[in-house]
Amino acid sequence: MNRKLFPLCIVVITVFFLASLGNSSESDAVKVDESEYKLCSNCHEDLIKAWEAKQYQHAPTAAGDCTICHSPHASNEKFFLHKKTNELCIGCHKEQSSGKHVIASYVFGSSHPVDGKINPLKTGDNFSCISCHSPHAGNTKELFAFDAPGGTMGICQTCHKK
Ligand code: HEC
Ligand code: HEC
Ligand code: HEC
Ligand code: HEC
Ligand code: HEC
Repeated sequence: MNRKLFPLCIVVITVFFLASLGNSSESDAVKVDESEYKLCSNCHEDLIKAWEAKQYQHAPTAAGDCTICHSPHASNEKFFLHKKTNELCIGCHKEQSSGKHVIASYVFGSSHPVDGKINPLKTGDNFSCISCHSPHAGNTKELFAFDAPGGTMGICQTCHKK
């Protein structure tokens, strides 16, 4: 995770773009029609392969819409996200913003925090949608960010050890 290197992405993308405008078929430049997914995977191949190896992929990631969430320009957020993580997610998943969905299948309480806390699994990180879900891929339909035995209850117990 080296923020300083991120501008390299932008430089290279710009170069590819300009090269595509110049458009000589014998050039070594990447082809004009190369998708964003492929473009990013030129350098993030290992990461993308690891996501593809998971059983479920998040629809926008699988579609290669990386820039829905990541800015190709500068950003004040970590990982060059357009907005704070939860705002990003809620933009498409409004119903889950209350946190009610987390414990919908359980009898305790009516809602679960989805922000304003510290992530017990990554101290120093704010609690957010991605404390539980991966924005890219996972081994469960709910795209849980980590694997745990015992289904959803095992997910709960990863943070709530008795
Ligand atoms: C020319 C190579 C290259 C291309 C193309 C590229 N990246 Fe990167 N990217 C890097 C390098 C190098 C780093 C820093 C090292 C690392 O974390 O792997 C990085 C880091 C990142 C980070 C982490 C930034 C941080 O704050 O830690 C994100 C997010 C990212 N790239 C997204 C993308 C997306 C989305 C695309 C496609 C639109 C893309 N990159 C295309 C080379 C590239
Ligand atoms: C739905 C929003 C969303 C989409 C779509 C998305 N990302 Fe991300 N990405 C995130 C978030 C949020 C993080 C921060 C993850 C964390 O803190 O664990 C992240 C982190 C990253 C990182 C940092 C390193 C890492 O190990 O996770 C890279 C690189 C990256 N994304 C590349 C991509 C690429 C390439 C695509 C498209 C194939 C993509 N992302 C699609 C939201 C998204
Ligand atoms: C551009 C819109 C968009 C954004 C932004 C977005 N998602 Fe999604 N997400 C989708 C679509 C489309 C699906 C697949 C259809 C569905 O099941 O609703 C999906 C599916 C999911 C699922 C699996 C639902 C299931 O049971 O199959 C989870 C979990 C999820 N997203 C979490 C997140 C999180 C966390 C973020 C923020 C990092 C986020 N999403 C950002 C569009 C988005
Ligand atoms: C504490 C962990 C946790 C957090 C934080 C969390 N979720 Fe969930 N999420 C779950 C669990 C558990 C399920 C499965 C619910 C079920 O099947 O009963 C789920 C399911 C989902 C689904 C599938 C549809 C549904 O409602 O069952 C989506 C989409 C989703 N979450 C998005 C989000 C978004 C967006 C955020 C942030 C606002 C978020 N989640 C925060 C644990 C979490
Ligand atoms: C990624 C870690 C994480 C996961 C996974 C997680 N929780 Fe939590 N949970 C928290 C945090 C953090 C709090 C807030 C504790 C505090 O207030 O200090 C919390 C609070 C709660 C509370 C108290 C709610 C209140 O009103 O304050 C209940 C009940 C709860 N969780 C149940 C669950 C259940 C059930 C699951 C599985 C579906 C689950 N949690 C999964 C981190 C997690």
